[in-house]
Amino acid sequence: MSISVVILAAGQGTRMKSTTPKVLHEISGKSMLFHAIDAAEKISDDITVVLYHQAERIQKEIENHYTGIHFHIQDAEKYPGTGGAMKGVVVSHTKALILNGDMPLVTMDALNALTQGDADINMSVITLDNPSGYGRVVIFNGKVQEIVEEKDCIPAQKEIQTVNAGVYCVKKEILERYIPALNNYNAQKEYYLTDIIKMAVEEGKTIHPVMVEEEEFKGVNSKLDLAHAEEIMQKRIKTAWMKAGVSMRLPDTIYIDTRATFEGECLLENGVSIQGASHIINSHIKTHSVVEDAHIENSDVGPMGRVRPHSRLVNTHIGNFVEVKKSTLTGVKAGHLAYIGDASIDEGSNIGAGVITCNYDGKNKFKTVIGKNVFVGSDTQLVAPLTIEDDVIIAAGTTVTKNAMSGELILSRTPQKSIKNFFYKFFGKA
Ligand code: UD1
Ligand code: CA
Repeated sequence: MSISVVILAAGQGTRMKSTTPKVLHEISGKSMLFHAIDAAEKISDDITVVLYHQAERIQKEIENHYTGIHFHIQDAEKYPGTGGAMKGVVVSHTKALILNGDMPLVTMDALNALTQGDADINMSVITLDNPSGYGRVVIFNGKVQEIVEEKDCIPAQKEIQTVNAGVYCVKKEILERYIPALNNYNAQKEYYLTDIIKMAVEEGKTIHPVMVEEEEFKGVNSKLDLAHAEEIMQKRIKTAWMKAGVSMRLPDTIYIDTRATFEGECLLENGVSIQGASHIINSHIKTHSVVEDAHIENSDVGPMGRVRPHSRLVNTHIGNFVEVKKSTLTGVKAGHLAYIGDASIDEGSNIGAGVITCNYDGKNKFKTVIGKNVFVGSDTQLVAPLTIEDDVIIAAGTTVTKNAMSGELILSRTPQKSIKNFFYKFFGKA
């Protein structure tokens, strides 16, 4: 890999109106910055992230998930702007791709197009009916001359509909020559990275404009932008999985995390939410079920089931209003209204309606282990820590507090009393 990547992420992101740094806002389960880093890792082994606002927090977040990323802290007081961000950045390869941390929708196809060829600068360009907000690209005789920021445009330049999409691939010697020479003599008193274009043109360097899609290069600046970007990302994720053979009923109502994966014949009904790095194999997730960071194989869930992180369901049926957390269920049926937390349950066992694993005593969590062919009657409370061996019957309404051995019937009920004709004495006869 002979290309370096620089990701600009020092901007403040005021319009996001959040205490969370802009680039850490998530789209389909992954922060915008991580979308950029993941793309960068596909093309480069030399990645530098430029930070300033909340640098420490963002750096820590990156270091929790990635290794080998370089950081450059911009001196943004002294050198504000995208050009200021590049001051002092050192790249190790002969070319550098410069990305923005707030453009999560850029595709690999577009990045590959931008890194091709031998021009001194490849720059991303879009033609827009409404170019406002973008730097305008001045082209003369078919050749790029300069980029003029909107605030610096003379009225005639404002009419230009060819705009700078903000991503560039630049030869190392161009950066070394022109970044130190940038000035801030402009409307915003900022050091503009875009000024390298004019400087390079003046010295006869080659600038190659690469036409890109507006949708991919839209910067996310507000919560509204974030929601729009999420919609686009969701469409892409679902389209890709449907092409890969996943069935979806009313896909517009389904949410799928960018980290989720599917195998074999899967059916997702309307309103389903698949979150985290869930892995779903040959399974049917029914209407309005939520799956989070779970492994589900040859199983069915819902409608209105909830499978929470670190759960593993194999050959299992989970019915309506059943919640499973951090539990392994193999060959189990839990058809209705149950809470199964910190448990493992083995083949042939049936969990009746209203069963609850009492896994938490207010201080600590405890495990419930249930063997094979156990019949847990309705409305049973399993007070953990607890082990139920194979082949046990637990009668409905039992509060189980002690381990059960193979072959046993467990029941804890007060004997039923019957008082003849009480109803008629109390309410009188009609
Ligand atoms: C920039 C371009 C503009 C282009 C637009 C496309 C410049 C001067 N202008 O404008 O021509 O049409 O992108 O979206 O480059 N950043 C820093 N440090 C800073 C300022 C910004 O790291 O001091 C980062 C931001 O976090 C962001 C990126 O650079 O990721 C772009 O900054 P932004 O302010 O969005 O660029 P614009 O001024 O909109
Ligand atoms: Ca700006």
